[in-house]
Amino acid sequence: MKILVTGGAGFIGSNFIHFILEQYPEDSIVNLDNLTYAGNLENLASVEDNTQYRFIKGDIGDVVLIDSLVAQCDVVVHFAAESHVDRSILGPEAFVQTNVFGTFTLLEVARKYSKRFHHVSTDEVFGSLERDAPAFNEATPYDPRSPYSASKAASDHLVRAYFHTYGLPVTLSNCSNNYGPYHFPEKLIPLALTNLLEEKKVPVYGDGRQIRDWLFVEDHCRAIDVILRQGKIGETYCIGGNGERENIWIVEQLLTLLGKDTSSIEYVTDRPGHDRRYAIDFTKIRTELGWEPSVSLAEGLARTVAWFQKNENWWKRVKSGEYQQYYASQYGKS
Ligand code: NAD
Ligand code: TYD
Repeated sequence: MKILVTGGAGFIGSNFIHFILEQYPEDSIVNLDNLTYAGNLENLASVEDNTQYRFIKGDIGDVVLIDSLVAQCDVVVHFAAESHVDRSILGPEAFVQTNVFGTFTLLEVARKYSKRFHHVSTDEVFGSLERDAPAFNEATPYDPRSPYSASKAASDHLVRAYFHTYGLPVTLSNCSNNYGPYHFPEKLIPLALTNLLEEKKVPVYGDGRQIRDWLFVEDHCRAIDVILRQGKIGETYCIGGNGERENIWIVEQLLTLLGKDTSSIEYVTDRPGHDRRYAIDFTKIRTELGWEPSVSLAEGLARTVAWFQKNENWWKRVKSGEYQQYYASQYGKS
């Protein structure tokens, strides 16, 4: 299978590329990424010389480039996005540009060539759950509340519209919070972890009792792969980790793993419009496609801590912005 991956230099996309090249040596991957602050080719250094892999620097909104790449692939797996809620609050425009217009451009070209399209989305499109409410599933109405989740919701609707209106062979997945290797240290787990490794404090928003449903990134990659190969066209699959925890529990777990105490926690002003709880009911993908999470939260957190301890150079360079300067000199500013 010839796979066009968008956003493959980011956290989940790079894990997905490693996963596919390991599991399916006969598959080939073209990775299209415009290397925003979140894109990092060092995530893919070990596959750079693999003849089944090729990197193209470019924007998903560049219709001429997209046309030439989509024409040559069998399937598009679409990860590229602006992905951080806090950044979307400070500057929503890039989110609308990439997540909505970028997805639209890809869909138009996929329609021209009738190409199979998998859209990677988030559980945040469903809004915020009360503590005792049932978890989100595929029938939950959309209720996005941040510019990030609103832009992802818009893209989900466009993808479904292309299936119903034009018969484009699409699938979608809405996944809960991921964590693991190559996670950009602006999100809770890698930020907390790297701050602790630098002897800094961990900022906890509000009362720290917001709940997320954590999934180890490899399990997400395996779920996308199953949907790509066995998923029913036109269907959406919710992917979750069975890993609902309060943020403060996660932070305390990291403190314990690193031999620190609660004096490293700093409670800070809450995020505006902060969603209280996300949780996913993944019955559909479990019963129809046989997928379920394989890495427990305890194991996943231990593996993540070990990875960040071993890859200090990686996160120190990411945090200092060194990669961005290097890519700007190699490719010009994105
Ligand atoms: P990320 O921010 O780590 O990576 C995004 C990648 O997309 C980067 O490499 C960036 O350079 C690239 N990109 C951004 N704009 C682009 C553009 N206009 N053209 C080409 N490339 C562009 O994000 P991530 O955490 O890996 O998330 C990947 C996808 O998964 C996103 O669509 C996100 O909404 C979704 N998702 C993420 C999570 C999570 O917990 N991180 C959970 C569910 C779904
Ligand atoms: P984040 O990793 O940004 O993911 P998302 O907002 O997409 O769920 O945040 C996860 C949770 O952690 C969320 O409730 C916000 C909270 N948080 C903090 O308390 N402190 C932080 O420094 C960050 C980045 C997040």
